[in-house]
Amino acid sequence: MAPVLGISDLQVTFPTLDGPVAAVRGVSLTVEPGRVLGVVGESGSGKTVTMLATLGLLPGSAEVTGSVKYKGRELLGLSPSELRKVRGSGIAIIFQDPRTSLNPVHTIGHQIVEGIRIHHPEVHRKEAARRAVELLALVGIPQPDKRARDYPHQFSGGMCQRAMIAMAVANDPDVLVADEPTTALDVTIQAQILDLLRDIRGEKGVAIVLISHDLGVVAGLADEVAVMYAGRVVERGMVDDVYQQARHPYTRGLLASVPRLTDDNRGPLVSIGGGAPSLLHLPGGCVFHPRCAHEHPNCRIDDPALRRVGSVEAACHYAEEMGPVGAGS
Ligand SMILES: Nc1ncnc2c1ncn2[C@@H]1O[C@H](COP(=O)(O)OP(=O)(O)OP(=O)(O)O)[C@@H](O)[C@H]1O
Ligand code: SF4
Ligand SMILES: [Mg+2]
Repeated sequence: MAPVLGISDLQVTFPTLDGPVAAVRGVSLTVEPGRVLGVVGESGSGKTVTMLATLGLLPGSAEVTGSVKYKGRELLGLSPSELRKVRGSGIAIIFQDPRTSLNPVHTIGHQIVEGIRIHHPEVHRKEAARRAVELLALVGIPQPDKRARDYPHQFSGGMCQRAMIAMAVANDPDVLVADEPTTALDVTIQAQILDLLRDIRGEKGVAIVLISHDLGVVAGLADEVAVMYAGRVVERGMVDDVYQQARHPYTRGLLASVPRLTDDNRGPLVSIGGGAPSLLHLPGGCVFHPRCAHEHPNCRIDDPALRRVGSVEAACHYAEEMGPVGAGS
């Protein structure tokens, strides 16, 4: 199936007073119609910047190269007004912090109505208001006709997230980018939001890019997963393959830190030692080498490319030598 969204060799650099920050360094991702792609990685790995670059939402100072194709049409280089048309109606995004994305001075219903009418000015305000109530019902807001008249501060965090999802799907986009949609929420509400995304995908056939630092969150919803580290994709594959046969030590470290209910032969949960590298001073060779338990001398010199190893793709020189997942990362 032709991808609805294809990102190839995306590079994003921010000029800063300390020097250029290479936030995204050659990321390629594809999203197929109606499928869910999970993008996972620690804080600062470039997940949000990748998607903001895709949607043309980065500050003008950012240098962006590569290619982003939506339904075969190149988005990089489109004018701001052409990009606005694509956003919302073609590719919609739920931003990382729902509360800062909702306008505190307008009611939730009004904000959904405006979102519809920006892309479809021909829709009468009353009709858009009726749709807004329908959308709030779709995302599980009780008494949607009444709650449409509420302001964001009258909504809980989980309800704000539901309202954001309602706004994002208001114009039936082909792709919904959900950036950490559950991070600020407690565990029960997190599960409800993931269920809601699953239902919406089923009901509307929308493809979803689900961004999270938590591989466990992604596993429940995604078909495929891409693992990012320091601005690159270091591993990708179908979610079950990555779960069972991850080849990159970083992914294996992430997996070791995810609690599993069906766990009988795994050791205690562990976290990956060390911290994310400074993007101003990236280590040479494999950028993961300062934290890698499998490091060999050539890892400090040769930068591994993403390549197929078994059922996944991994960017590690020693990917073939990794034993079963769970037998130590
Ligand atoms: N406007 C900017 N100027 C300079 N650096 C930036 C800018 N925006 C983002 N960065 C840097 O780009 C890197 C990637 O940031 P990004 O927000 O994509 O990370 P992330 O993977 O989404 O992390 P998180 O899980 O914390 O949301 C970070 O080091 C960040 O500091
Ligand atoms: S290339 Fe070397 S340092 Fe990098 S992940 Fe593989 S073993 Fe570790
Ligand atoms: Mg982010």
